[in-house]
Amino acid sequence: MKVLVVGGGGREHALCWAIAKSPKCKKLYCAPGNAGIAEVAECVDIGAEDVDAVLDFARKQAIDFVIVGPEAPLVAGLVDRLEEANIKAFGCSGKAAELEGSKGFMKDLCAKYDIPTADYQRFDEPDAAKEYIIRKGAPIVVKADGLAAGKGVILCHNQNEAFAAVDHMMSERVFGDAGDQIVVEEFMTGEEASFFALVDGKTALPLVSAQDHKAAYDGDKGPNTGGMGAYSPAPVVTPELTDRIMETIVKPTIDGMAKEGRPYKGILFVGLMIDENGPRVLEYNVRFGDPECQVLMMRMKSDALDALLAAAEGRLDKISLEWHDDAAMIVVMAAEGYPGHYEKGSEINGLDAAKAIDGVTVFHAGTKSDGNRVLANGGRVLGVTARAPSVADAQKLAYRGVDAIDWPQGFCRRDIGWRAIARK
Ligand code: AMP
Ligand code: GLY
Repeated sequence: MKVLVVGGGGREHALCWAIAKSPKCKKLYCAPGNAGIAEVAECVDIGAEDVDAVLDFARKQAIDFVIVGPEAPLVAGLVDRLEEANIKAFGCSGKAAELEGSKGFMKDLCAKYDIPTADYQRFDEPDAAKEYIIRKGAPIVVKADGLAAGKGVILCHNQNEAFAAVDHMMSERVFGDAGDQIVVEEFMTGEEASFFALVDGKTALPLVSAQDHKAAYDGDKGPNTGGMGAYSPAPVVTPELTDRIMETIVKPTIDGMAKEGRPYKGILFVGLMIDENGPRVLEYNVRFGDPECQVLMMRMKSDALDALLAAAEGRLDKISLEWHDDAAMIVVMAAEGYPGHYEKGSEINGLDAAKAIDGVTVFHAGTKSDGNRVLANGGRVLGVTARAPSVADAQKLAYRGVDAIDWPQGFCRRDIGWRAIARK
């Protein structure tokens, strides 16, 4: 079959890498892709958010199956448009993507269907929000309702910070329309984990567990990023906890979405906070996590294309997923300065040496080719990924891969996986 993957980050490289191995995949395209993706797919110069151009390309090339990586085209209704044109697609509808696209919607859904999450209230004007903050006290969390490129959540340690966050979003409108409505919620403590399930509207199939590191620097210090590394399995998510997450969170979410007239299909990514009272929802995402997707694809033994097709075709009750027992770890190499200002265009060497290490795969997140050279072209640039019998072994191997790469303008954390390794 002819397959098109939409997106151009590390997540899409991992998806393309896994899908290209399927005997069913006769031709693989990626829009827009990157220098690493170009090794396994034909990259087409169409931005992931250009819904019209993606649709047009899919029609003209008679694509059989489109897999949408990032949230923005999902929120913009790409899957609805493809399905109207009778093109099969993996991902949720625009209406279902509200789960990620609106914090207010997601909180109300949890409240209505009794899904555990932080206490909250929604506001559309600053004074009421500030009164609530005074009443509840700090620490407290202020969230822009809409998509804000991962920056719309402000953890406030005192009342002044919380007031400033409200003003930042509602008066200064730093996130534009996304901050016209806000959610103010209880500050939760515990251990975070990323939980993923394939969903076909009715059936949900959990994937293996994963955990990422959001902070930019070692010791989980520094500013929040999209994720500086990840590993699977995440020991905090025991088999018993998986059952509990499925029963108390994933199933009621899927049932609730169906009842709301927004049946959910695609990948459901639940960001969890786990404490002694159990798991609670921090957020939902309607896409695979990045970099979690890379470790999941490294561990997936089943044919990834088959699994994604089963979700799109409503056949998840007929399949089961197989996984490698090995652990996987990804270490993200980012451009110096990320997540703040960084330069593009520096040259990366040593990629072949890293890839030559048995068990290591290098996923490209933000790269482009220039003749034979590979240049940095983003904040998060590479994901050096390893599979090995334990998280500790995968860590050793991943850092061997990192050390083989010659890129003076890049940096990475040196402690990815510390939490899992410390538990042993
Ligand atoms: P979100 O985009 O809602 O997941 O928020 C991004 C990050 O902010 C999460 O991964 C958490 O680390 C943190 N966070 C969000 N909401 C809360 C909360 N209610 N309590 C504590 N931390 C939070
Ligand atoms: N790594 C977390 C995310 O993709 O949002």
